[in-house]
Amino acid sequence: MSDGRPKIGIREYTFLDLEEEEKRAELRVSIPEVLDFQYGMHVWPCAVVLAQFIWFHRKDLNGKMVLEVGAGVSLPGVVAAKCGAKVILSDSAELPQCLQNGLRSCEQNNIAGIPIIGLTWGEISPDLLDLPNIDIILGSDVFYEPKDFEDILVTVRFLMERNQQAQFWTTYQVRSADWSIESLLFKWNLTCTNISLNTFHADKQCLAGSDLPGRHSIQMLIITLDTEATRRPT
Ligand SMILES: C[S@@+](CC[C@H](N)C(=O)[O-])C[C@H]1O[C@@H](n2cnc3c(N)ncnc32)[C@H](O)[C@@H]1O
Repeated sequence: MSDGRPKIGIREYTFLDLEEEEKRAELRVSIPEVLDFQYGMHVWPCAVVLAQFIWFHRKDLNGKMVLEVGAGVSLPGVVAAKCGAKVILSDSAELPQCLQNGLRSCEQNNIAGIPIIGLTWGEISPDLLDLPNIDIILGSDVFYEPKDFEDILVTVRFLMERNQQAQFWTTYQVRSADWSIESLLFKWNLTCTNISLNTFHADKQCLAGSDLPGRHSIQMLIITLDTEATRRPT
C-alpha cells in the first residue's frame, strides 16, 4: 500500500577523463529520481550529454556563476557545482515538486545550500530580477514543447542583457523535423553554434555509465547574443 510519499530510486553516474589517463580524474554523482513518468522527476538523455560537456570543460567553469533552467533532478547543475561553479538551480515556479527534486539531488551529493528557485520561462518575476549576473545558463531538454520555445529564449535573452558575454549551454533532443528555434533566435538577436558530440566524447550510446543517451538524436548547442545583429540598423 502506498504511504503517499514519492518512491525514490538512485542512479549513479561516473564521469571519466579520457584524455588524462595518468591522473585518472573522475567524478561520481548520484541522482535520486522519483519513479514516476513526469518531466522533472528523472534524468533525461539530454542531461547526461550536457553533464558530459560540463565535465569535459570543467576548467572553464571554476568560479563561474551558473544558472540551470528547467533543472528537474538537476544532473548538469550538480556536475557543474562539483566542478567548482557557483550554481543556482531553477524549475517552474508552478512545479514545487520539481524544486524538491533539485534539493534532493544536492543533498545526495553533499552540496546542500545551493539556491533552488522557481523560475518560469518567459516570466519576469522578482526571483529573476534578483539573480546575480550569470556567466553560463544550462538547459537540458528544455526545448520539448514548441509552445514554450519563445518563453525560454525570452528568459535567456533577458539574462544576456545583463551579461552580454553569457552563454546558454543547452542539449536538444530531436523529436520532430518540423521543430526549429532558428526564426526565434533571429527574432531575439541570438545566435547558435552546434557542437559535435565527438569533440567531448559524447558520441556514444552509453555515457558516464548510463545507457540513457542510447540511440536518441541529441544536439549540443551554445547560444549567445548575436553582437553583429545588435549593431545592425533596424
Ligand atoms: C524534459 S524535462 C528535463 C528535465 C532535466 N533538465 C533533465 O534533462 O533531466 C523539462 C523540465 O522543464 C521544466 N519546465 C517545464 N515547463 C517549464 C516552465 N514553463 N518554466 C520552467 N521550467 C519548466 C519541467 O518541470 C522539467 O523539469
